[in-house]
Amino acid sequence: MKYLKFKNGDQMPAIGLGTWKSDKGKVGEAVKTALNSGYRHIDCAATYGNEAEIGEAFSEIFSEGKIKREEVWITSKLWNDSHKEEDVIPALKKTLKDLQLDYLDLYLIHWPVAFKKGTGFPENDEDYYSLEEVPIIETWKAMIKAKKQGLVKHIGVSNFSIMKLEDLMEKTSEHPEMNQVELHPYLQQNELLEYCSSKNINVTAYSPLGSGDRADAMKAENEPSLLENKTIRKIAKKHGASAGQVLIKWSEIRGTAVIPKSTNEGRIKENLQSTGVNLDEDDLKEIAALDRHFRYVTGEFFVTKGNSYENIYDDADYKA
Ligand code: A2P
Repeated sequence: MKYLKFKNGDQMPAIGLGTWKSDKGKVGEAVKTALNSGYRHIDCAATYGNEAEIGEAFSEIFSEGKIKREEVWITSKLWNDSHKEEDVIPALKKTLKDLQLDYLDLYLIHWPVAFKKGTGFPENDEDYYSLEEVPIIETWKAMIKAKKQGLVKHIGVSNFSIMKLEDLMEKTSEHPEMNQVELHPYLQQNELLEYCSSKNINVTAYSPLGSGDRADAMKAENEPSLLENKTIRKIAKKHGASAGQVLIKWSEIRGTAVIPKSTNEGRIKENLQSTGVNLDEDDLKEIAALDRHFRYVTGEFFVTKGNSYENIYDDADYKA
């Protein structure tokens, strides 16, 4: 497996287990299965609502002694209701307590929007802070403080466009070390990838399999399926692999980390075994041609009068 390198020499395994949408009652077992089958990277977030169960799994695994805490890369994310300077470290400490950890390897600002304290999901404009009220740089300064305090080894962002990265980096010399964004063959984001690479920002691909298990309310009508895509299936067949493995391998080849979610033992193992699949030049050319700037996670749920975004990703070709 590939590793993503950080400035201080730390290395992040390219394939991690995603836990967004992993149900309570299943996620703990999934994390244990993943670690016992060789995963050394688990991606979490406070808003997924399952960190306490993941923490139980970590505690069990680490106390068995076969796998040590420091051998596993653990990421979590700050929810949008804790962007005010005084709220960042308490939110992080709650995540650490839930995950039963002393530190995180990576902590990300989950979205470039701020909600009033206690807002899980905003219902109206009053639930938001404007960017003038709680600017990203305020949140970022608290993230830097968390790193200095040793609560997290690395800090970064998620769902940030080039414009938002530039805006943040103009205001601080401590640049984000990671940007976690939606990435897959229908949304290849080459420009963002090149930009991040030029600024030494690592990238993690979320929803690499198309996140078919999102709630119906989050789905567009007639969404294209990645796992059913004819080209992906043809390439999978050619290599005796599964469609999921082709999608994961493609992300790994592009130099990003990738965090496929599964709570199914067979698929958790299958996804890690994608490292053994070899895609050739022809395959990569065919997959490159699938790009259609299609987002599964549109971000439209965060675009209201309450924040100043027309579209959260600053997409040039965005149509409301
Ligand atoms: P399950 O948890 O039952 O395995 P994403 O990572 O893009 O969010 O996609 C997650 C969805 O893909 C879940 O519905 C998950 O279901 C499913 N999934 C995970 N791995 C595979 C795989 N190798 N083949 C097909 N579906 C998969």
